[in-house]
Amino acid sequence: MPSRLRRSVLACPGSNPRMMEKAAACAADEVFLDLEDACAPLEKPAARGKVVEALRSHDWQGKVRVVRINQVTSQFALDDIREVVTGAGDSVDCIMVPKVRNAGDIAFVDRALGSLEQTLGLTLGAIGIEAQVEDALGLMNVEEIAFASQRMETITYGPADFSAGMQFPNLTVANTYNYPGDIFHYVLFKLAVAARAAGIQVIDGPYLLIRDIAGFREAAGRAAALGYDGKWVLHPGQIEPCNDVFTPSQADFDKAVQILEAYRHATEVERRGAVMLGDEMIDEASRKMAQQFEVRGRAAGLTPSEHVAAAAAAS
Ligand code: GLV
Ligand code: MG
Repeated sequence: MPSRLRRSVLACPGSNPRMMEKAAACAADEVFLDLEDACAPLEKPAARGKVVEALRSHDWQGKVRVVRINQVTSQFALDDIREVVTGAGDSVDCIMVPKVRNAGDIAFVDRALGSLEQTLGLTLGAIGIEAQVEDALGLMNVEEIAFASQRMETITYGPADFSAGMQFPNLTVANTYNYPGDIFHYVLFKLAVAARAAGIQVIDGPYLLIRDIAGFREAAGRAAALGYDGKWVLHPGQIEPCNDVFTPSQADFDKAVQILEAYRHATEVERRGAVMLGDEMIDEASRKMAQQFEVRGRAAGLTPSEHVAAAAAAS
């Protein structure tokens, strides 16, 4: 399946119909309706029906539609899957599974989805899985998690639960950790390696100080530099900065197109595998770097600037 656009992933409580209606109209690439931690335990059973209703009745305008169920070891998870897929299985793109600790957690969801898809006459395998890694055991096992099912579409980080589990002396998730460097660097890098090895996407988690947009941009920029596809947003004010950080700049996109064109000309017309482009040597590896940039840019709606398109057409 081609990767979906997931620059911004909006969290929305599944117990709140008004917020779900607003979420459907926002500019996030993905919305997940939450039956887990943004839903009070007493509201969880009733929230399932509200989520089904929201999935069925709103126009989600091409967004990736996801429901976060409860942890598979909880009393809620099985009924979460059953009610959501039975009620709105053809209107949900992925199930997000929180606090995944091993491949067995994913296998459980995979089998439950397969059984329901068959019973309901849905396409087998149509519903994907997003796996949240948010504790030490999950991080240790992320390699097996990333490969646990054909349905796997993302590894998603959960920094709040991770901070709690690791007993970090910090009370929020923002640029407030008293640590010389990026406290999450190892985690983010490890998740990214596992996800890329499995050929799936990797998404950073939330930034809780929702009014600190400069801090949000900085945190999102660190994930983007590691190749992350996107990051959670908790508030409409974070959406636009998030989409911006995870979209290549026009200059970089144009350069990627120029590299691709120069390399095509070098190999196909000049029959050379390594050539100069300006001050830079480019070869097959440069083509690959440029290509992933170009794919990402086009998915985000970029097109080459006029002078770049004209030069490409003339060569
Ligand atoms: C998200 O679920 C987190 O724990 O950060
Ligand atoms: Mg969490």
